[in-house]
Amino acid sequence: MSIELDLTGKTALITGAGRGIGRDIARKLSSMGANIVINDIASSTDADEAAEELIAAGGNAICLKGDVRNYDEIEKIIKNTLDKFSTIDILVNNAGITKDGLMMRMSEDDWDAVLDINLKGAFHTIKAVTRPMMKQRSGTIINVASIVGVMGNAGQANYVASKAGLIGLTKTTAKELSSRGITCNAVAPGFIRSAMTDQLTDAVKQEYFKAIPLARFGETEDVANVVAFLASDLAKYITGQVIHIDGGLVM
Ligand SMILES: NC(=O)c1ccc[n+]([C@@H]2O[C@H](COP(=O)([O-])OP(=O)(O)OC[C@H]3O[C@@H](n4cnc5c(N)ncnc54)[C@H](O)[C@@H]3O)[C@@H](O)[C@H]2O)c1
Repeated sequence: MSIELDLTGKTALITGAGRGIGRDIARKLSSMGANIVINDIASSTDADEAAEELIAAGGNAICLKGDVRNYDEIEKIIKNTLDKFSTIDILVNNAGITKDGLMMRMSEDDWDAVLDINLKGAFHTIKAVTRPMMKQRSGTIINVASIVGVMGNAGQANYVASKAGLIGLTKTTAKELSSRGITCNAVAPGFIRSAMTDQLTDAVKQEYFKAIPLARFGETEDVANVVAFLASDLAKYITGQVIHIDGGLVM
């Protein structure tokens, strides 16, 4: 492995890492030598398995459950991370949900549920890591947004607003923290095969498929690879950017 891709001695916290994209990001960063903190909701048994899998493969990992909507729980997770591994070098805000529907029928509860996890959750984790990263004078934050946050999407007003908001939060974080040696970028995946996209109807899947120039759906590994690059020293001069991972869907 090249020196720039080696994350040995670094610690990465990945939210919503029990399954899907987050779990693959955890696998990838662990394979590069990082200590991994798997976060997911309290009821996630997947999260325990994810940490066990990394340890069985020879990595260092712990599972710290907590809800990104709850700032106190997040602060505790950051404290426990620092107690265990001494530093926090990489934060990946991956936890996210959908509650789709046309706006005229969307309930306020569905709006709030998506914004609270996808956007406010990232605000909480960023706020909580800011002090330790500033003290270290280093760190990188990667937010998992979505291509629909760039292009808009009928039937996903809450989700699109949360992801567009996350892109704005990314740029502001980059500007506020760059003088302390901290970078912040977003990835904007297109259609990635996961439990989230499994819920979509075949008709919606076909519509997406027709619009993807590379003529395949993305895999969780496609996202993990780009996050790995952004987390590495190869990307140390990149901040405030949104990297599309969508097979050319939006260009
Ligand atoms: N799958 C796609 O096509 C796609 C495309 C663009 C962006 N994304 C984004 O990628 C991220 C991961 O998506 P995925 O497809 O792997 O979905 P997923 O549903 O498989 O995984 C999401 C994880 O987040 C966890 N989570 C939910 N609420 C949480 C909370 N309050 N606190 C902590 N963890 C919580 C879930 O338990 C789950 O393990 C999401 O932010 C999603 O919006 C996915």
